[in-house]
Amino acid sequence: MPKPDTRPRICDYEGSNYRTEFWEGRGRDYEDQVERLTLRKLLPPRGKRLMEVGAGFGRLTSEYHNYEQVVLVDYSLSQLRYAQEQLGTSDRFVYVAADAYHLPFRAGVFDGATIIRVIHHIADVKAALGEVRRVLAPGGTLILEYANKRHIKAMLRYARKQQTWSPYTLEPVEFVELNFDFHPRYMRQRLNEAGFTLQHSIPVSFFRLDALKQRVDASLLARLDDLLQRTGLHYTPSVFTQSIAAGVSPNQLDTGSLFVSPLTGAELSREGDVLVCQQTGQRWAIRDGIYDFKAPLDE
Ligand SMILES: C[S@@+](CC[C@H](N)C(=O)[O-])C[C@H]1O[C@@H](n2cnc3c(N)ncnc32)[C@H](O)[C@@H]1O
Repeated sequence: MPKPDTRPRICDYEGSNYRTEFWEGRGRDYEDQVERLTLRKLLPPRGKRLMEVGAGFGRLTSEYHNYEQVVLVDYSLSQLRYAQEQLGTSDRFVYVAADAYHLPFRAGVFDGATIIRVIHHIADVKAALGEVRRVLAPGGTLILEYANKRHIKAMLRYARKQQTWSPYTLEPVEFVELNFDFHPRYMRQRLNEAGFTLQHSIPVSFFRLDALKQRVDASLLARLDDLLQRTGLHYTPSVFTQSIAAGVSPNQLDTGSLFVSPLTGAELSREGDVLVCQQTGQRWAIRDGIYDFKAPLDE
């Protein structure tokens, strides 16, 4: 009998037109601006090595200009290829195709990490946050954005009996396959459990209403959002958090080599455009400058 597939489900953006179908010219300038503004409030302004998990086509990379190295991780090679076309090939940008549950990095090699518009696709939050914690150095900063189930529209729909699920209960709601909304308290618990200390939590996108966005300038809405964020009213569709990785020796960043096998954690050696696991001999391809850890070669 074949073994059951126990790997977590992944929301695959391979070949999708996320950039042109969701962002460019799609009436989301306000969301883009307010997310950048919030990210600037929370992300330490400079650092050594930052990882963005689910970086997509690299929309937010311009916000990381004071980091010496930026590692873009995404499950989709096509998203990474577009990012690489825009940002170029240099030592400063590293492109890694991998899934968030099996990061191919040595422990403690990052002092910063961001996860924005991604955790809503993650079925096993505990496992993914555990991986992110492992690769962050103690004292490192995680900026996590999540979709909030206790937002005002969901509360109104629930009150009018137009929605069956309760926005007040802790468990995540999967409203479409691999699209989850989370309760703020649930996310705080998962962060703590993974070894993070939550420092700040900011409600974001108070004005995500088409009628308003069509009439009011995006930068004005973003500035008003900035004011409302200070109320701390967590009834918005999106929440940004800043957490610090716990640990006994703060800021002991491992600046040595980056990669290990995502399956065994063993050292890798490079042979041309292939990385070879020193323990198992499994091999991973480097395709035109993108490290492809989605599956070993020959699998
Ligand atoms: C909605 S996009 C967000 C992209 C970017 N963070 C942004 O805000 O523009 C979600 C991205 O997460 C990636 N993704 C989803 N599940 C993933 C997983 N398990 N591991 C790695 N990447 C994943 C998708 O391929 C996609 O590019």
